[in-house]
Amino acid sequence: MTMTRKRIVIVGIGVVLLVFLGWRLVRPMSIFVVSEHFERPIDTSNASMATEALRASTCGACHREIYEEWKTSIHSQAWTDPYFQADWKFDELQQVCKNCHIPLDRQQEHKVLGFNDAEKLKPVLVDNPEFDAQLQHEGVTCAACHFKDGKLLGVNGNLNAPHPVEKLADSNDICLRCHIVQGARWDTFFRYPPCGTAAEIEADAGRWPGRSGELTVRHASELGCVQCHMPLVKRALVEGGQVQEARRHLWRGGHDPAMVKQGLEVHFVEIGAGAADRRAFALTLTNVGAAHFLPTGTPDRHLTVRLRVLDREGHALEEEKHSLKRTTMWRPFIIDLWDTRLQRGQPRTYRIEFPAEGNPAPIAVEAVVRYHLLDEKRRARIGYENTEPIAYEVFRSRIALQGAR
Ligand code: HEC
Ligand code: HEC
Ligand code: HEC
Ligand code: HEC
Ligand code: HEC
Repeated sequence: MTMTRKRIVIVGIGVVLLVFLGWRLVRPMSIFVVSEHFERPIDTSNASMATEALRASTCGACHREIYEEWKTSIHSQAWTDPYFQADWKFDELQQVCKNCHIPLDRQQEHKVLGFNDAEKLKPVLVDNPEFDAQLQHEGVTCAACHFKDGKLLGVNGNLNAPHPVEKLADSNDICLRCHIVQGARWDTFFRYPPCGTAAEIEADAGRWPGRSGELTVRHASELGCVQCHMPLVKRALVEGGQVQEARRHLWRGGHDPAMVKQGLEVHFVEIGAGAADRRAFALTLTNVGAAHFLPTGTPDRHLTVRLRVLDREGHALEEEKHSLKRTTMWRPFIIDLWDTRLQRGQPRTYRIEFPAEGNPAPIAVEAVVRYHLLDEKRRARIGYENTEPIAYEVFRSRIALQGAR
């Protein structure tokens, strides 16, 4: 080969690479793989049940307590939730979002007949004559979890129920469809479950120390979702029924400060400083209550830590800020860069050190930990007009410096 030919080949390869990378930078992108588990809505056409019988309000006529609990849960708001609605509009009203947020076919205005593209982001849609607006309003309704092939899933396989019941070996199976990543693709090195949780549970076992990883679920029962998120309660399932071990239908998470606090242990204490004329304090956070990372869920969720040294006027003489979140590069490839969230049982310490004397004099140190459902920048970008706060405090402590040594 002559010099010029070689050069042409090299330049040619270079151009192809550049075009490829350029395309990766601008191509339309979905951050998740649409897997067969949720590419279509749940088929209820084989149900002997009328649409009315599938509604939560109908189940609630008999299972009143469970219904009242479910109504307070975020599952019942998975469609009406104004944050979801704003995000969905921002994401161009994709059909695939519905397959988890309103997963029953009768909750959707259109039926999915097939797909126009290999990535399955462009479904072929036709009008759905069985569409029911009330059922849609119920979001992750009772039947979204309990309905399967014309029967209602239950752990007891109860024969006294007036509806067909199918015995379920492990109820954690129910959570998988929507909360665990399923499906693989060559160019996605970190696989978020769409919006979701729990890719991190196995990562805790040390396969990817310090990073979130992929989850292959071998035994759903190992996940423990139901055990933590649906606490046991003794009660009758229907009015006048036999009292038995049952589970609460509350599913508390990031929207509930008490749930987040329950998962988090925080200590703020004085420690030895580097020099005699200095003082140092340490804030230690430990995820003691969640099997997954804390925080978990959509990539928007994060914690912030603020440590301050204050003078008499309450002004900060020194300040340290930290974020506990995952950071991802989206283009040209999806790569999980780093993740500073709390792994189960592994304490994380942040320090602040400062001169003991000064003018103005330091009189107190303060630590504040906040939980954020999403950050202000993203709220503004997607046009979500929140009526409830998007962040709240989970820990605050102020230590007076006089005699604190
Ligand atoms: C997010 C999924 C989900 C939703 C939504 C849901 N359930 Fe359940 N439900 C479960 C799981 C999981 C169990 C089994 C818990 C266990 O292992 O005992 C269960 C158990 C039950 C039981 C058996 C008794 C018990 O408490 O264990 C009844 C009855 C029941 N659900 C009714 C309802 C009704 C009525 C609604 C709607 C108002 C509803 N469920 C909504 C997941 C769900
Ligand atoms: C007409 C009353 C009635 C309606 C309506 C009703 N159920 Fe039930 N269901 C019962 C009774 C009665 C039982 C048995 C209770 C017992 O064992 O004490 C039962 C049992 C169950 C169980 C437990 C099954 C098992 O063996 O583990 C589940 C789950 C359940 N129902 C879900 C639902 C859901 C979801 C709906 C709505 C789609 C619904 N039920 C509607 C009366 C009703
Ligand atoms: C049909 C899909 C679906 C299934 C099945 C499902 N979930 Fe969810 N879950 C959702 C969606 C969607 C949301 C978020 C709703 C929203 O905020 O708009 C959610 C939210 C949650 C939250 C967060 C609450 C918060 O405050 O943010 C918890 C906890 C949760 N689910 C637990 C479970 C558990 C445990 C199971 C299994 C018993 C389960 N889910 C089954 C779709 C599902
Ligand atoms: C050992 C108890 C425990 C287990 C097991 C557990 N969780 Fe959690 N989960 C928590 C605690 C505590 C929180 C609140 C702190 C946080 O957000 O991490 C939480 C939060 C959540 C949230 C809220 C996220 C948000 O954005 O608001 C979701 C969703 C969730 N868990 C789903 C699951 C699923 C799905 C499983 C099973 C694969 C599971 N959890 C297993 C304890 C647990
Ligand atoms: C595979 C199921 C699945 C699909 C598909 C899905 N979601 Fe979700 N979504 C969830 C689950 C599970 C949660 C709860 C996780 C959490 O609590 O952070 C959730 C939570 C959310 C939240 C947070 C709500 C809140 O109140 O904090 C938003 C916003 C959201 N989804 C938007 C979307 C949009 C937009 C799409 C389509 C592009 C979509 N989702 C597709 C399962 C799904």
